Amino acid sequence: MENFYRGRRLRSSSALRDMVRETKVSAADLIQPYFVVEIDPNYKKPISSMPGQFQLGLSALMAEVELAVNAGLKSLILFGIPNEKDPVGSGAYAEDGIVQQAIRRIKKKWPELVVVADTCLCEYTSHGHCGLVSSTGEVQNDPTLELLARTALAQAQAGADIIAPSDMMDGRVAAIRQALDANGFIQTPIMSYAVKYASSFYGPFREAAESAPQFGDRKTYQMDPANWREALREAAADVDEGADMLMVKPGLPYLDIIRLVRDNFDLPVAAYQVSGEYSQIKAAGQLGWIDETLVALESLVALKRAGADLILSYFSQDLLKAGHIS
Ligand code: PBG
Repeated sequence: MENFYRGRRLRSSSALRDMVRETKVSAADLIQPYFVVEIDPNYKKPISSMPGQFQLGLSALMAEVELAVNAGLKSLILFGIPNEKDPVGSGAYAEDGIVQQAIRRIKKKWPELVVVADTCLCEYTSHGHCGLVSSTGEVQNDPTLELLARTALAQAQAGADIIAPSDMMDGRVAAIRQALDANGFIQTPIMSYAVKYASSFYGPFREAAESAPQFGDRKTYQMDPANWREALREAAADVDEGADMLMVKPGLPYLDIIRLVRDNFDLPVAAYQVSGEYSQIKAAGQLGWIDETLVALESLVALKRAGADLILSYFSQDLLKAGHIS
């Protein structure tokens, strides 16, 4: 009898497979994104390109979060859609901005829930860019930093547990850290969208957040999808500036980058399974071409296997509610 490797021995029963499984996704790893709108507290509008996701008024958001928390949700990230947009994104840093209001409500009711605030201007600017725009249409880096710092501070003052800058301006982690520290928020961590690509997978998000750029694109500030060495430089810069966690975005098409960041840095790594990834799985599931739930679970395991400690995913609440993850 040939003495060959019998890999099937450890696959022969479900209990055995459970024992030798190398990667597990648990509720503690997941962060559910929510879109909160200012219009009306009871507003609840489906996002057509993201079945199962909604734009939610404050009260509707509270109801949605309650169901998720009861199912075991531990963390969420908030995106805001203000009534009024202007060229300087005032709604992002207003004391009563919609995200700040939502943070206060949520933290009051669920002090234990980890509330992440996405820090960016694009949902609040009339031009839809993530920073201030000059008269010639350029996104201005340094003048934007002060507004991002103000936004982060307003979010921290409202009670945000984690500040997550997603704008991709250079120097924003340093500017935010300085503003937080100067105002007594030395304990508020920054989860930087350190390695964020100019991805077409963000399409559905821009419907959800009403944040599509009105002219041009985000390629002068977000990264070229073709680049991996640049990911090391971006992550290193954010570590130097004081980031506490590093995010890679998108997720599944960038597993190599997640692995790269995991192997080169010792901070916790988060992966963002973005809107387009969600929508693809949903659409194929609705057509009956794939099993949506199994594909979603497999994609989350893949992100963890690649090195992500945390995952931002639109599937979080549904997988928890259905008991697929605990
Ligand atoms: C804001 C922001 C975006 C996403 C997260 N924060 C949009 C963008 O950069 O255009 C995308 C998330 C998703 O697609 O799910 N800058």
